[in-house]
Order: sequence, then C-alpha cells, then structure tokens
Amino acid sequence: MLEVEGIHTFYGLSHILFGVSLRVEPGKVVCLLGRNGAGKTTTMKSIMGLTPPKRGNIRFKDEEITGKQPYVLARKGIGYVPDDRRIFADLTVGENLEIAARKARGTEGWDMERIYELFPALKNIESRKGGCLSGGEQKMLAIARALMGNPELLLLDEPTEGLAPTMVHALEDQIRKLRQAGLTVLLAEQNVRSALRLSDHGYIIDNGQIRYQGSVGELEENEEVRRKYLLV
Ligand SMILES: Nc1ncnc2c1ncn2[C@@H]1O[C@H](COP(=O)(O)OP(=O)(O)O)[C@@H](O)[C@H]1O
Ligand SMILES: [Mg+2]
Repeated sequence: MLEVEGIHTFYGLSHILFGVSLRVEPGKVVCLLGRNGAGKTTTMKSIMGLTPPKRGNIRFKDEEITGKQPYVLARKGIGYVPDDRRIFADLTVGENLEIAARKARGTEGWDMERIYELFPALKNIESRKGGCLSGGEQKMLAIARALMGNPELLLLDEPTEGLAPTMVHALEDQIRKLRQAGLTVLLAEQNVRSALRLSDHGYIIDNGQIRYQGSVGELEENEEVRRKYLLV
C-alpha cells in the first residue's frame, strides 16, 4: 500500500531524514518507533506532502506520490492525524466531523453514525466546542475526523502521547477496531509498549535513519536494540 524509498528531508538547510525507507502492506498496522526528535513526525509529514523530501520516492498503491500536495493525497485516500491534533476550537464536535466528510469510494464508508459507534464518548459531547475538550477527547476527535475522509491508509502521529493509562487502553481498542475494519495504519510512537501491542511490524528510527526493522515478535525479543534506540 505504501512504499517509502530512501527519502531525504530538510527543514531549510537542516538535513533531518537520511535515506528513510519503509513499507506498509495493505491491512497491516506498522509502527515507527523512536525517541523524541528521532524523525517520526518528519517522516509522516514527508509522506503527507507537508515537508516534501528532496530525494527519494514515495509510492501509494503503486502510484508515485512524491512531492504531491497534501490535499491531493487526502483525496487519494491518505488520512493524517497530526500529533498536535488541530481541532477547530470554535466548532462543535459534530461540526468538526461534518466538515471533514468525504464520500467513500467503496460501499462501507465512515459516516457520523459509524464514527459514534466506534467512539460513543464523542456522541455524548457532540455539541461541545472543540476548545472545551480534554486531551483524550481531542485525540479521539482528531482520529474520528480523519476517518470522516474515508482514508485507506491512516497516518497516526503519537496518538497516545500525554494520555492517562486508561485512555491509552481505550484508544488501543479503537485502533484495533480500525484494523479489523480493514484500514491500513502507519503509527508513529514513542510509547513502545502500546505500539507493539497494536502492530504487526515495526521500524526504529534514530537521528533520521532507520536503524532496525522486524516483526513485533522480533522487536519484543531484541532487548539490545530497544535499549540502544528507545531506552526501554
Ligand atoms: N520546523 C522545524 N524546523 C527545523 N527543525 C525541525 C523542525 N521540526 C523538527 N525539527 C527537527 O527535526 C528533527 C526531527 O524532528 P521530528 O520529526 O519532529 O521528531 P519526532 O517526531 O521523532 O520527535 C529534530 O531534531 C527536530 O529538532
Ligand atoms: Mg513527533
């Protein structure tokens, strides 16, 4: 579904990503693990066209998408949940969802009803303003909003960051349901335990380079690699 091949991304003159490559197969959850500042968000933004790479290639469903504009990628079926959420503070929860709606190409698309089934907590606060939500509610709304665009591939940037443990578990259940619904997910996380519980395959990024990749089982067994790059 997604192939990233040797991308180099810069902020101005600062060289941030050094030949990052990764693959996400359809229907899988793949995590990109790394410490703060490792390059996870920059990788997500590079895929989404927000910080286009200077070198390297990105393919989505076998189509070259390198350097395409974010709105084009959204239309092609890539959903992006940024780490800073960007909820519209003056709009209600319901309105935040409505403005993000984009019709599904297939039959079984996401609509408000299905979203509220997945996130019943959002239904209860449907008419509350985005600016009055807790951190956990904002995270849910950000994911729900991305789903309203009916993506095939969802880029999730640190969904559990800053959440209380009970919220983390609730969010994990919801992400598992997305996968059961057939969505493909690339998950950037510092929370290794949470990410490994959810994923099929993992990559470790450090200083803008992929240092390790393997199945979740391999990552769980490889304490040395986890210690070196993740401090866990
Ligand atoms: N807008 C920016 N301008 C310059 N440097 C940035 C910018 N955003 C991030 N960086 C730098 O890029 C590196 C990778 O950051 P980032 O991709 O946000 O890491 P992560 O998401 O893994 O924490 C860090 O060294 C960070 O300081
Ligand atoms: Mg980040």
